[in-house]
Amino acid sequence: MLNGIQIQEGLTKLIVPVDHSVNGPGRINDSIFFNEQMAFNRDVSVMFLRALGKKITVADAMSATGSRAVRIAKEVPNSIVTANDINSDAIPYIEANIELNELTNCTSSRKNLHSLLAENVFDYIDIDPFGSPMPFLHSAIQGCKRYGILAITATDTAPLAGAHRAKCERRYQSRPIRGPMCHEGGLRILLATMAREMAKFDKGMTPVLSFYADHYFRVYIHIEDGAGNADDSLSKLVYLSYNPETLERSISKEMDKDHKYGPFWGGQLFDKEHLSKMDPTNTAKEKRCIKMLDLWKHEIDDIPYLYDMSEISSYLKISTPRYETFLEKMNECGKTSATHMGPTLFKTELELKEILSIFKEHSPM
Ligand SMILES: C[S@@+](CC[C@H](N)C(=O)[O-])C[C@H]1O[C@@H](n2cnc3c(N)ncnc32)[C@H](O)[C@@H]1O
Repeated sequence: MLNGIQIQEGLTKLIVPVDHSVNGPGRINDSIFFNEQMAFNRDVSVMFLRALGKKITVADAMSATGSRAVRIAKEVPNSIVTANDINSDAIPYIEANIELNELTNCTSSRKNLHSLLAENVFDYIDIDPFGSPMPFLHSAIQGCKRYGILAITATDTAPLAGAHRAKCERRYQSRPIRGPMCHEGGLRILLATMAREMAKFDKGMTPVLSFYADHYFRVYIHIEDGAGNADDSLSKLVYLSYNPETLERSISKEMDKDHKYGPFWGGQLFDKEHLSKMDPTNTAKEKRCIKMLDLWKHEIDDIPYLYDMSEISSYLKISTPRYETFLEKMNECGKTSATHMGPTLFKTELELKEILSIFKEHSPM
């Protein structure tokens, strides 16, 4: 007998444990994991897959209650979904959710994902673990069809964003960065690590959608077979220098005494054409989906560093101009954008001296 309640998420009905998490990173307790706050994360999966507009086989490899798998099966036309979890207590939830939504394109599976992905291949694989995805990455790469898509969540934000540097270096073989660039850095470390793991299998990758939200990083990458593609992906890795005293940042292909952070993924975060096909209609968090799609679409994504209005204000010892006005004035001189990483952060092609001059000119002092 399930100790569950029925909720609605998007167009899907879900039975989830009564004592599920509502906010924050989610609690691990005796019951099957479900976090209401991740509704936005599941919305993005639905929008992402709908935008592909084709028949697709899906493995939700760490499905818990089956919430993501069942939403995909219900809300993405032409999807054939496997909802897998190693925990036998998850299976009654998955099966109840399949039945509740009268789905014929979703099946439950109770396997260690390493076996599932050694025995079967899929067009799209979703890995959504507690903490780091690294222990599951090799299996996910192997279980993905040629030119397939991997979607990975990482909730080990503290190491990736530099709060636990040694842990980041151990897990991701990359040195994280603290300060205003910590989340941009964490996202790009995750991508860089994936590029290096793919290269071991002679595969390259193109990120289609990569973002930071709430307490986690999430990346959707398109896998491209071939040694040439692997080399091409590796050529996009960069090291970063950052001097908080002068605010200077720069990138280098090689690590040296200044460029000591990284490696980071230095290429694109988004495929803007794919983003333009993503439709937020009927999602659970429609307003948030509209806002984030707009931010991602307009974000400069091929420069791997950003600036913070408040660090410039402290450096110049003057007040901060209005964010929107500042961005508008910056854009008159060179390409500048907001970023989904935070409401006081921005990205620009302009040099630091130009940024400082425009900041001074528009500061109320
Ligand atoms: C964070 S929860 C997944 C949440 C779910 N994707 C959602 O959106 O609600 C992680 C799940 O991974 C499962 N898991 C852990 N190791 C696994 C493995 N080796 N193979 C398959 N499932 C695994 C756990 O039982 C747990 O249910």
